[in-house]
Amino acid sequence: MKPVLVSGVQPTGKLHIGNYLGALKNFTDLQDSGDYRCHFFIADLHSMTEPFDPKEKRRQVIELCADYLAAGLDPSQSVLFVQSEVPAHSELAWILNTITPMGELQRMTQFKDKSLRQEENINAGLFAYPVLMAADILLYGARTVPVGDDQLQHLELTRTLARKFNAKFGKTFIEPKGLLTKTPRVMSLKDPSKKMSKSQPEGCIFLDDEPDAIKAKVSRAVTDSEATIAYDPERRPGLANLLEIYSALTHLEPNAVAAEFAGENYAELKRKLAALVAEHFAEFRAKKRKLLASPASTERIFAEGSKAAAKTAGATMAEVKKRTGLSG
Ligand code: TRP
Repeated sequence: MKPVLVSGVQPTGKLHIGNYLGALKNFTDLQDSGDYRCHFFIADLHSMTEPFDPKEKRRQVIELCADYLAAGLDPSQSVLFVQSEVPAHSELAWILNTITPMGELQRMTQFKDKSLRQEENINAGLFAYPVLMAADILLYGARTVPVGDDQLQHLELTRTLARKFNAKFGKTFIEPKGLLTKTPRVMSLKDPSKKMSKSQPEGCIFLDDEPDAIKAKVSRAVTDSEATIAYDPERRPGLANLLEIYSALTHLEPNAVAAEFAGENYAELKRKLAALVAEHFAEFRAKKRKLLASPASTERIFAEGSKAAAKTAGATMAEVKKRTGLSG
């Protein structure tokens, strides 16, 4: 049997090209490789650990569902589902909480970072976030978990909890491995020392941006005052970021992109990059627009996926309840 693969994204707002290259693009490549039994979900329970508007949440979930489908995830090849529609995630998370040492969670750098960012809302969910993530993974017997390097510490905890549960209650879980694929770190167009982020929209190209908006943002991207085009991430990070985005969408090495633009000026590079980005996501925009025009079909696809996921996850929970003595 092919190994199980699980990954998810939190529905917290519009996706940008950094999210696409770091996650969605990867997901579709992994799905299309045919090497895995893929499970991709919308991590809506995770997203509740950050401040949110309940009037917005379901819309954010549906929009991310549409992003998944428009990017090429396919319910006939992958199990696509919504975390909160599969109750086993919360159930297993609770049980795993009872074997998770507080000290392990206190070491988590993401918890520390987020606590600084939302000082007025340091909730227990934020603290236990990695335990829910472990449940997401262990429920499906995943061996492979594609994540960004900021999630590796959480994955290490998942392995620790699997080992601990197995030692205490008998072999139940598989220890998963992270899959780090080489993805470019897309930086803000306004400040190339910071990662591209929706919190700074002028420096951020959203997947939904229309060609005019893309053109405006790229043309205002911060570069430097040198005259030639060369790839030098240390000394010329703004220019390097543009070349890397170009590279990611064409599969040419950044140096080769720079060579292609040798003798041209920044305006020319920016014009061509904006056109490339606009064209690259044209099909995505059209598909997404169509999906959101009648969201019922998207909801149906994910409801069916959630049903399938609940079957697998429910079987794992039944075993967990037996092993822990909750059921006979
Ligand atoms: N924590 C992940 C992130 O923010 C999202 C996530 C939640 C996830 N559960 C997961 C990723 C399980 C992989 C597997 O990127």
